[in-house]
Amino acid sequence: MFPQNKQLYTKLIMSDPCMKFLLNGEPVSVTDLPPTLSLLQYLRQNCALPGTKEGCAEGDCGACTVTVADIDADGRIRHRAVNACIQFMPALHGKAVTTVEGVAVGGVPHPVQQAMVDCHASQCGFCTPGFVMSLYADFRAHAPREVTRQEVDSLLAGNLCRCTGYRPIADAARQALAVPRSPAESARDEAHEKALRTLARGCGELVLDGAAGKWFTPKTEASLARCLAAHPDARIIAGLTDVGLWATKQLRTFPKLVLVSEIDSLHRVAASGGRLDIGAAVTWSEAMPHLLRHWPEMQEHLLRFASPPVRNSATVGGNVANGSPIGDSMPAFIALGAEVVLRSLSGERTMPLEAFYLAYQQTARADGEYVAAIRVPLPARSQRFRVYKVSKRFDQDISALCAGFMVKVERGVVVEARIAFGGMAATPKRATRAEQALLGRTLDEAAMQVAQEALDGDFQPISDMRSSAAYRRQVARNLVKRFFLEVAPAGEHATALRLADLEVLP
Ligand SMILES: Cc1cc2nc3c(=O)[nH]c(=O)nc-3n(C[C@H](O)[C@H](O)[C@H](O)COP(=O)(O)OP(=O)(O)OC[C@H]3O[C@@H](n4cnc5c(N)ncnc54)[C@H](O)[C@@H]3O)c2cc1C
Ligand code: FES
Ligand code: FES
Repeated sequence: MFPQNKQLYTKLIMSDPCMKFLLNGEPVSVTDLPPTLSLLQYLRQNCALPGTKEGCAEGDCGACTVTVADIDADGRIRHRAVNACIQFMPALHGKAVTTVEGVAVGGVPHPVQQAMVDCHASQCGFCTPGFVMSLYADFRAHAPREVTRQEVDSLLAGNLCRCTGYRPIADAARQALAVPRSPAESARDEAHEKALRTLARGCGELVLDGAAGKWFTPKTEASLARCLAAHPDARIIAGLTDVGLWATKQLRTFPKLVLVSEIDSLHRVAASGGRLDIGAAVTWSEAMPHLLRHWPEMQEHLLRFASPPVRNSATVGGNVANGSPIGDSMPAFIALGAEVVLRSLSGERTMPLEAFYLAYQQTARADGEYVAAIRVPLPARSQRFRVYKVSKRFDQDISALCAGFMVKVERGVVVEARIAFGGMAATPKRATRAEQALLGRTLDEAAMQVAQEALDGDFQPISDMRSSAAYRRQVARNLVKRFFLEVAPAGEHATALRLADLEVLP
């Protein structure tokens, strides 16, 4: 049905040869763009806009935070804080970027900037533009609103400050986000939104073919499938929160890149037929409310997945497709019995998520295929589910290990058990011996002990910079105990005490 050869593919699509976006409200066209040029490099080197800072160049510190506005699949404009250091420029085609230089209106500081001054929330100031932009994105999306200290902490989990201390910054956040928009600001924002809609309407599929590499932004799955059939060696990209670092930290080069995040059908989330289908290009920020509606047990886990600016770009499909042994979604998804949906020009196939991972950084995805969706069975009444992440920091840290537990209990005995771990093997992996040991048993202390013992036969973890093998083995056993304590039948039930629940003494 679709032309499979390269020349035809390139000729047939309606493509833009240059990248267009709005920068602080002004239209910009960029030609001769190296596909992996980061937005941060472009702002500082090409535009002389040095307000956006470089700290870590890996999405961790927030010094480079900017606001990106685009139009979602339902036609709504959304404003998101994004890390400019790991966004490749062509990914901004058809979008609006606001930097710290663009937030004041007519020389009057924005309420977010004014609050940072009023609350003494800046010392050396290196981090300040990043905090301002994270708050500005929230202001554009939700203000005016009252926020709690805990909400501020979650909102700013991706912004680090080394000298001021977070209390004045949190005060500034709470002050700023409660301020209503001024008439001058509303007028400016409306003009920018109109300009964005006009720009986006005129933007087709982006095709760059320069000396520094090729870039494709297909806008439909049919176009993506044709593109991958013609270029099976192309690197698929979505939110760039893994691949961006391969460029900035490992200095890897990418001769061909195909961006999947501009395809509306890959942004769908639908609950029907007893399952939740999550499109591969759905970001973690978008996925969170859907996941929490069905699995409120994921609340803490999802809040601890990276930080808001990373979750605003990072996709569910990217996490699953990357197949990192310490990726945080897979233990939960595997425990819930999820399947991965793969599509290509020749059709669609699905497989259990655990079968997708063949070996370290090797998946069952064939050339020309892309991950289209993750399909998760909706919870049954008999189901008890938990997911745990163990890392050195609470926020924004890589897991030493991560575990998903799901048991179905009918008439007092376990009829199904699915336990999956990350960080215990070269791939995310099920603990099949521990699962077997639980079948037919009541959820009691004896069952917990047999599961713990069986677990020793399931994994031979390694020692690395995050933790030793002995630590991983011990913590995995402890998580089995925690699961049992939390889901044990009424009466024996225990509730975890969390640091955040403790009150500060006056
Ligand atoms: C600061 C920071 C903190 C992070 N914290 C966490 C964390 O707490 N937990 C965690 O698990 N991860 C974390 N990550 C890693 C990353 O954010 C996630 O893995 C994310 O979900 C990747 O999605 P992406 O869209 O950005 O993928 P990309 O970087 O665009 O791509 C990642 C990989 O997936 C492939 N790919 C992407 N989409 C598809 C598709 N549709 N079909 C086929 N292949 C595809 C790409 O080829 C690539 O191999 C963090 C990253 C950063 C920078
Ligand atoms: S420079 Fe640190 S997050 Fe971008
Ligand atoms: S004010 Fe110096 S790092 Fe925050």
